[in-house]
Amino acid sequence: MRQMAMVGFMQAQNCTNLASSWRHPESRTDFLTADYYQEIARVLEHGKFDLGFFDDRLSMPDRYGSDHHHTIEHGIRCVKLDPVVTLTMMAAVTSRLGLGSTASTTYYEPFHVARMMQTLDLMSGGRAAWNIVTSLNDGEAANMGHAEMMAHDARYDRADEFVEVVKGHWDAWEDDALIVDKSSGRFGDGNKVHRLDYKGKYLSSRGPFTVPRSPQGHPVLIQAGSSGRGKKFSARWAELVFVAYHDVAGGKKDYAEFKAMVAAEGRDPESVKAATIAYPITAATQMEAEDKAAALLKLPLEIDALSLLSEALNFDFASKGMDEPFSDDEMAGIQGLQAMRDNVVKRTGKKNPTVRDFIVGSGRGKPRVDMVGGPKQLADKFEEWFVERACDGFVISATHVPGAYREFVDLVVPELQARGLYRKEYAGPTLRENLGLAKPDGSARWR
Ligand SMILES: Cc1cc2nc3c(=O)[nH]c(=O)nc-3n(C[C@H](O)[C@H](O)[C@H](O)COP(=O)(O)O)c2cc1C
Repeated sequence: MRQMAMVGFMQAQNCTNLASSWRHPESRTDFLTADYYQEIARVLEHGKFDLGFFDDRLSMPDRYGSDHHHTIEHGIRCVKLDPVVTLTMMAAVTSRLGLGSTASTTYYEPFHVARMMQTLDLMSGGRAAWNIVTSLNDGEAANMGHAEMMAHDARYDRADEFVEVVKGHWDAWEDDALIVDKSSGRFGDGNKVHRLDYKGKYLSSRGPFTVPRSPQGHPVLIQAGSSGRGKKFSARWAELVFVAYHDVAGGKKDYAEFKAMVAAEGRDPESVKAATIAYPITAATQMEAEDKAAALLKLPLEIDALSLLSEALNFDFASKGMDEPFSDDEMAGIQGLQAMRDNVVKRTGKKNPTVRDFIVGSGRGKPRVDMVGGPKQLADKFEEWFVERACDGFVISATHVPGAYREFVDLVVPELQARGLYRKEYAGPTLRENLGLAKPDGSARWR
């Protein structure tokens, strides 16, 4: 039976991706300690999650009013720890959980990302994954010494080259290049370690790469592009795709379209898993879960939404009145998350939405409460999404940590397991085995 993939959507920061979560009565607040993240890792592994992954951004939200005071005062995703260092601490207390980190193709060098992620893959026994992002806003550009953000599609052109370099380096060492034979004195086979000699429009890298292959070959590639250009990039490279489908009917259509794009790239659609973001709120009974959802809806402030919208769309929402419409030029000029802009237009039916329309239409104004219920009710919803082929799995977003993960693992996971939709045991020690992805044949390009 087809099994659903399960991913924990983690943040190495002071809140979950719900900015107000740090105020949740049950949130742990020691987010600057290893123990905080190690507890999350243990809970996810206990729940047989394929992986937990950290999102990332190289700046705090300060686009709103070009100022960071509100961000710090209200704790709006202002802390961002290094995700790979944090994952290494989590790797040390787990043995099966996959470990995903985001790294930007716009601000890192491919040799650096290739080495960092391949080292994590080795240190974790083949459990690493790289979430490839192109980054979104001017804050990141400013922190990384760029005058301005690269234009949207050019970011993806650079990202194509970036992945060619990273994958090229990951394949540099053939599987049997290492010999390490003290008696003969041969350390390795020089003919089986190759220089890449890559020269592109944006990037070049020589090699040879300095990290041998891992038990799963190399890290799993994750991507979450949602624009047309982003989806094309995903279809070409990704092995696991994060999507944000809104309902089963729409998800079915988008999922089928995406799988067709994968096939058009000459790849097997089954070899790419699409996991949609889900915000479960669960408790022993439906009524208790509804009470929790009601309490949760009281946590966010309007400033959270304004700040995060400014960040995601790379537009200063403080520059406009609440009921002032965006001009045609302003709409066309948005170089941040274009899919969010397009969704707001679709959902509000307005070509020129106001600030208030953006808050409502983007869903950033309040937590999503479309998956609320006891174990059976929630398992029904997950089953419907999965069986109807609106996705291959889920990216579970937490209302607070670690409690929301623990409740999901204790209540919903056993119900999904009982229905035969979700694994009871890990298939093996590597992330690829658990996701059902083939080990890449790194030596193929040299034969
Ligand atoms: C589950 C999920 C996680 C994401 N994590 C990040 C992230 O950590 N950093 C980031 O810059 N973008 C992140 N994104 C945004 C995407 O990478 C991508 O930039 C966005 O979907 C816009 O797509 P586009 O660039 O094709 O318009 C995430 C999206 C989803 C659905």
